[in-house]
Amino acid sequence: MALSNKHILLIISGGIAAYKSLDLIRRLKERGAKVTPVMTRGAQEFVTPLAVGALSATHVFTELFSRQDEQDVGHIRLARDCDLVLVAPATADLLAKMANGMADDLASTVLLATDRPVLVAPAMNPKMWEAKATKRNIATLKSDGIAFIGPMAGEMAEKGEAGVGRMAEALQIAEAVEHLLDDAPKPLKGKTAIVTSGPTHEPIDPVRYIANRSSGQQGHAIAAALAKLGAEVTLVSGPVTIPDPAGVTTIHVERAEEMRDAVLGKLPSDIAVFVAAVADWRVASSSEQKIKKQPGDAPPALQLTENPDILKTVGHHEKRPRLVIGFAAETQNVEDNGRAKLQRKGADMIVANDVSPETGIMGGARNQVKIISASGVDAWLDLSKTEVAERLAALIAERLT
Ligand code: C5P
Repeated sequence: MALSNKHILLIISGGIAAYKSLDLIRRLKERGAKVTPVMTRGAQEFVTPLAVGALSATHVFTELFSRQDEQDVGHIRLARDCDLVLVAPATADLLAKMANGMADDLASTVLLATDRPVLVAPAMNPKMWEAKATKRNIATLKSDGIAFIGPMAGEMAEKGEAGVGRMAEALQIAEAVEHLLDDAPKPLKGKTAIVTSGPTHEPIDPVRYIANRSSGQQGHAIAAALAKLGAEVTLVSGPVTIPDPAGVTTIHVERAEEMRDAVLGKLPSDIAVFVAAVADWRVASSSEQKIKKQPGDAPPALQLTENPDILKTVGHHEKRPRLVIGFAAETQNVEDNGRAKLQRKGADMIVANDVSPETGIMGGARNQVKIISASGVDAWLDLSKTEVAERLAALIAERLT
């Protein structure tokens, strides 16, 4: 398990997002971590120490001036006897205290006393997140080496409030913890990688678009797997509903042309993996206004034009990466089509899979692929998309070292 033998000190401060910390404890524990919770006064207004302790199955620390706790552990040991201090949710108030070195309760004292890495997951109203004082505090904390996950954009607990300020989801936070505590070998350290993922949306008018089916799961998993081996990864993602992977720089795009520009902007690079299901065509001139349906009118005829082939462009580019890998989602003649694609696109490797509906691969968690290269074909059967990603990243590391 990714976090076995790791001890996380989880500081929960007082915001409505504190309820998500209950799930976070479960996520950390299912990865093998021991979790010791510390709760501020405010946090106890939102969730009870009883609920937190029931999930962590450890003592919950709440008071700085507790004779018993000081005798048993003491706040200095609490601050040091862990592998990471995680603050989730981190309120604007606690961040302000951290930035200014204040220590007037157990949470802030532990944060001042710790010599361990600290990861914070802020959660607050968007106006508070945008406030100049918060921005100053965040800049200070970043320069002090504090790591951040989120906040994310979206709806707030307050009705009608939306913007940046939601705490990252428990899974994202657990992944960020894994990333920070990862001490596995890094064969791709010093190497850069570009990965494309997801579909592209090609507008017909401001509300309609053409797209391929793609969840982005495989591409995102590959970006994460390359980062885990130490590569500096840029993920260029089309519109997807899954979160950005931890430890990766994600550039969000909509259209194929935007995806191409983002990819070319990242050259030179050592590795490029093209997983995105790029729409082959776009509407030649998309309408500025919504095309209205008039009773009795014939449906509009869409004039399509070809999109740039990003893989092919990069495969023949003067700044071509050392390793260029493409995907081929096919519904028939998987191997032959894959081999033809290798030639045509200038790739070193094609990962080909059968996406006919009966395989359940499209949108599902599992995959089976054929790795086609100049040296032959290798079949990887019935793996999870994460396993495909990890094996591919290992193969990339082998080829580059
Ligand atoms: O030709 P086809 O779309 O089947 O090729 C699939 C491979 O090419 C994938 O790796 C995909 O990401 C890439 N591709 C691309 N730009 C396009 C079309 C496909 O990068 N316009």
